[in-house]
Amino acid sequence: MARRRKRKKFELSVPLNHLALIMDGNGRWAKRRLLPRNEGHRRGARVIFDIAEACVDLNIPVVSLYAFSTENWSRPQEELDFLFSHLEEEFRNRRDELIENDIKIIVMGDITRLPQSTQDVVNEIIELTKNNKSLIVNFGLNYGARDEITRAASMLASDYKEGKLEKEAINNKTFAKYLYTAGLPEVDLLIRTSGEERLSNFMLWQVAYAEFIFTKTYWPDFNKKRLIKCLKQFEKRNRRYGGL
Ligand code: FPP
Repeated sequence: MARRRKRKKFELSVPLNHLALIMDGNGRWAKRRLLPRNEGHRRGARVIFDIAEACVDLNIPVVSLYAFSTENWSRPQEELDFLFSHLEEEFRNRRDELIENDIKIIVMGDITRLPQSTQDVVNEIIELTKNNKSLIVNFGLNYGARDEITRAASMLASDYKEGKLEKEAINNKTFAKYLYTAGLPEVDLLIRTSGEERLSNFMLWQVAYAEFIFTKTYWPDFNKKRLIKCLKQFEKRNRRYGGL
């Protein structure tokens, strides 16, 4: 019997400390299959956790996800209701898996506008996973980068007014401490699925030196294999950070 050659495990040859994902195309994925949009979201939610597991395997320490933007409130109420109730369901059902895979969940965005039941489940999963170490999954929920930056500026102004911060101490580093991502590494790679090529108000500060990859794959079809394909492209990029 012919022996099947074991595929070599992919290992990144360059540092990738923070991966950001704009998960786009759930609706189009569903439409193409004549399914309701919510089926696309259901499948898309499943992919989030497959990709998180893949990131653990690939030794990527932080993944940020655009799960719900400050602009997404304009969607039909029925879709909003589904997104929040499904997020609750996923977090409830994935508790053991997240603990087993040593994944810590954190959130960026103003979650106080989300339904109370969603806030409760989100806060519970944050608390439950807070000591996990293998991977941080940072969910953008009611997140918008402009809101994040103006919120940071406002908190910085308060600290200045109260004498907690000197004007001379205000620089990129101190400013970044007021962002939701305080303490996290800068984004190295941003991937947007579905063929759209824009940032849509996602992590504008944090992607200053990130590499961008836009793939035509709809988010529900994204998987570890496709992620590795993106990582191989990322490895070839010549990151000069403004130098030569
Ligand atoms: C974009 O698809 C996707 C979003 C609205 C955000 C991401 C949401 C998920 C991955 C699923 C829900 C997640 C949880 C955890 C419940 P789109 O609707 O904009 O697609 P389209 O552009 O093709 O219409």
